[in-house]
Order: sequence, then C-alpha cells, then structure tokens
Amino acid sequence: MDPKEVKSELVLILDYGSQYTHLITRRIRSLSVFSLCISGTSSLSAITALNPSVVILSGGPHSVHTPDSPSFPDGFLDWAQSNGVVLLGICYGLQLLVQRLGGEVRVGHTQEYGRMEIHVDKPSDLFGNDRVGSKQVVWMSHGDEAAVLPPGFQVVARSQQGAVAAIENPSRKFYGLQYHPEVTHTPEGMETLKRFLFDVCKVATEWKMEDVMEEEIKVIKETVGPDEHVICALSGGVDSTVAATLVHKAIGDRLHCVFVDNGLLRYKERERVMGTFKKDLHLPVVCVDAVDQFLSKLKGVTDPEMKRKIIGKEFICIFDAFAHELEQKLGKKPSYLVQGTLYPDVIESCPPPGSGRTHSHTIKSHHNVGGLPKDMKLKLIEPLKLLFKDEVRQLGKILNVPEGFLKRHPFPGPGLAVRVLGDVTEGDALEILRQVDEIFIQSIKDAGLYDEIWQAFAVFLPIRSVGVQGDQRTHSHVVALRAVTSQDGMTADWYYFEHKFLDDVARKICNGVRGVNRVVQDITSKPPSTIEWE
Ligand code: XMP
Repeated sequence: MDPKEVKSELVLILDYGSQYTHLITRRIRSLSVFSLCISGTSSLSAITALNPSVVILSGGPHSVHTPDSPSFPDGFLDWAQSNGVVLLGICYGLQLLVQRLGGEVRVGHTQEYGRMEIHVDKPSDLFGNDRVGSKQVVWMSHGDEAAVLPPGFQVVARSQQGAVAAIENPSRKFYGLQYHPEVTHTPEGMETLKRFLFDVCKVATEWKMEDVMEEEIKVIKETVGPDEHVICALSGGVDSTVAATLVHKAIGDRLHCVFVDNGLLRYKERERVMGTFKKDLHLPVVCVDAVDQFLSKLKGVTDPEMKRKIIGKEFICIFDAFAHELEQKLGKKPSYLVQGTLYPDVIESCPPPGSGRTHSHTIKSHHNVGGLPKDMKLKLIEPLKLLFKDEVRQLGKILNVPEGFLKRHPFPGPGLAVRVLGDVTEGDALEILRQVDEIFIQSIKDAGLYDEIWQAFAVFLPIRSVGVQGDQRTHSHVVALRAVTSQDGMTADWYYFEHKFLDDVARKICNGVRGVNRVVQDITSKPPSTIEWE
C-alpha cells in the first residue's frame, strides 16, 4: 500500500539516526495514530507529499556543529508554520530546531546520559498547567545543550543540573524535549506523548487494524485488473501467510499460491501448514514435492554458502516452472507476485556519523532465498510493507489466521540445511534432526515457554561420540539445542532454561531418537555467534 493512500492523519518522524527512532513510530501507532518514519534529510517535496499533521524530529548521534550533520530541508519550517503542522524535536531534533531558528546550541557544561530527574517550571502545553513544580525521571542522552533559545520560545522544564529539558513556542506550535519520551526508562514518557498528540496536536485515533485491512483490500482490488492473476510463494511463515490471506480476500481465486516441500522442512511441517492453508484459510495452494530435486543437488555439499546458493537457485527454478504451468493453464501470464515484505525491511534510516553513507537500507539480502524469476516481469504486491511484525500478527488475527500459527518462531528459508552441519544427505541426519527438534519444541510448549522465546531449534552435529545405552556401548550422534531471546534477530541472547527442564528434554531425546546419545546446549549470544549455525 502506498502511504499516500492511507486515510488516517499522519505523524511523520524525520529520522536523524537515533537507535530509538523506530520505537517512536511504534509507540505512536500503539496509540491508534498512523505514523511513518523517513530519512531526516528527505526533500521538502517528499515530506509535503505525505501531508503530515505532525512532524517529529528524532534524536541522533550527531552534533549540530559537525559539518554535514543531517538536517531538514530549507523551507521546511515555513511550510510547517503556514500549514499548521505541529513540530516536536526530540534530543538532537530539539537542538536542530533551536539552531535553525536562530538560537544557540553549545557543548554542555555537564553532559547528561542515562536516568535524570527533571522539574517542570512553568505552565505549559507539553505537561499541562497543573504540573508546575512536579518532578519526573527521564532518559537523557546528550552532549550538546540549547544555550540561547530562538525568539518566542521558553524553557518549561529543566534537569536537576539546570540543563534545558523541554521548550515550547505555543504560538508557532513548535516544541522540543531534550530527553527520550519513547523509552521505558522515561516512565511518564507515554503520558507526555499522549498529551502532545491528543491535547496539543489534536490528532484523531483513526489507525485501526480493521481499517488497515479494508484499505489494503481496496488498494489490491484497484491495482489488480479484473482479468489479472497473482502468484505467491508460501513459506509457512507468518508474513507470507498473512499477505496471501489478504490478497485472497481481495481477489479470490485469481490468487495462486505454491508451497514447496524441499525436503528440509521440520517434522510434519508439510501436513501441518497445508492443513492451515486449506482448512483454516481456504487459500488456493499447490504443494510441490521437490524433495528429491533439492536433496540430489545438495548431495556432498558441506559449504554453508554453497548450500544457501543451491537452495535459492532450485527454489527459483521451481517457482518459474509453477508460473509457466499456470500460464499454460490460464492462457495468460500472471501479472503480480505477492511478497510479505515488512516495514523494517524498507525503512531508509539516517546513517551513523562517519559511515560515509547517505542512506542505510536494512534489507537482509543474504536471507532472501527466493528472488524473482527475471524473465517473468512480475509486478510486486507488498501489502505489509508499512507494518511492523506485531501489527502483521494483529492483522492476521483479524483475518482468522489461527493464533498458534501467528506466534510461530521464525524459520529460515534454507530450512534444516542450515541446522545440519555438513552434508544434509549423509545418513539419517535430517530425520534425526526432525525428531529431536519436535521433542525440544513440544517440551518448550508444554512448559509454557514458547512465547517468551524468540526462536528455538535443534542442530545436528556431524560427529559421533561414545555412549552406553542398555549395557551396550554406542557410537552415536551429538545434537545441540539452541533457544534465544531477541527483538529482531539482529542481536540475540541465549535463553536460560531451568536445569530440570534441560534434564527432562535430554532424557526424552536420548530415549526417543535412535542414533543420538549426547545432547549439548548452545550458550552463545549473537554476536559473536549467529542464531543459526550455518
Ligand atoms: P542468523 O543466523 O543470521 O539468523 O543470526 C537471524 C534470523 O534470520 C533467520 N535466517 C534466515 N531466514 N533465510 C531466511 O529466510 C535465511 O537464509 C536465513 N538465515 C537465517 C534465522 O532463522 C533467524 O531467525
């Protein structure tokens, strides 16, 4: 969906590179207000085309004094004022406002980082007239400070060390907070944001998942012509499933989905996901059995990069064949491809100082196993590209995607191939791994821990060790268990299980899976490890 199509009022975030920028966007959306984040150096036409009611200038690691520090375009302040657009600068954003309006920003006497108490000195829009004299703890992170304010501004709150904490110019409707209201370390931050949005800016709470669904369906209907067909590769993950369900609701059986069994799926995965697709979601989906095709290409391959490349290439071949078959059947080429791209994949963020980059893209290209068959010239439909993961789950819920499905841990495109070290076709590696993984995941679910773990799985190690089972010495395989907590998979911590839990799982595995006599746990974080082993 194009952001310009969204009917709700927009709070636009100009990103100056703070690690919290996306959190502001999410916090605002959690208040049922539509929010988008674009680069802080976007052109005036890019900003005005979005027609925001409010613009928030984010924090960032820069100093306004460094040459080339990022800033908003010329004409932005005049445009905001003449269109009644309310501005809020946060941290670096406050300093930028002060400097560009003719005030002065200096290197602070005392730099302030971390928890800090501030007190409200004056009646104000930001805190309300009844809060004069009140104190609150906030999260500060700044070296520079606003020393001389631009005309028309006043300081309404200061830190205990006397530094400017909040400023406002109510007649121009320009505001600034030196601290971060969006982080949980600022306990009253959400209250301040709510006050700002609803009392000061008077924005309406119109951003609701039900409306998003309706808008998306309308846009898809308008985009795809009445005789056009759309294809979609389902991975069994949340994103492609929700995207396909949405498109299906819009155009019905002119959507054609394919699910590929590449022989690298989990225990009963094919039956389970095909069951959900067909029985629960009524999606038109074909399951291609490509087990032999994939495994024969992977025979003898031990290099992890090579495995990923082979799998990616095979996948494209199968997808291509599916599309061509469909073309024969329909007598015309399908025109569109649905992809479950999410907002974090497309946000253009402000790059860190000294990076030499003008924009940073966060697309995880090495994870995009699929790719498009080039000659098919398919146009893309990406109905989730404005949504965060938790919003996709909400949308899925409205679309009746079963709750258990929406909460599934992520699963990599190359499947168990990145969890069997070495040759995946060697011996019973895949079958052993499936059984071990199933016992581990089921135990996690039984213990009620599944939802607090970000991802859990087993790994097959291509080594044997000596054991003793039923009076006999064995020479069997070692498997590793991995469970991590994470926000987005970019960094991760290993999950602390209780000893009793681990003990039970290890026993169940050794007793229940032939060919395994030793279970170890992976206790590394990412970095230095990755989450998957290959
Ligand atoms: P790593 O192992 O890179 O994994 O720390 C981070 C997250 O990404 C998943 N992952 C993949 N997903 N194709 C995918 O679709 C891939 O090639 C791939 N490799 C890793 C991994 O499961 C974890 O959630």
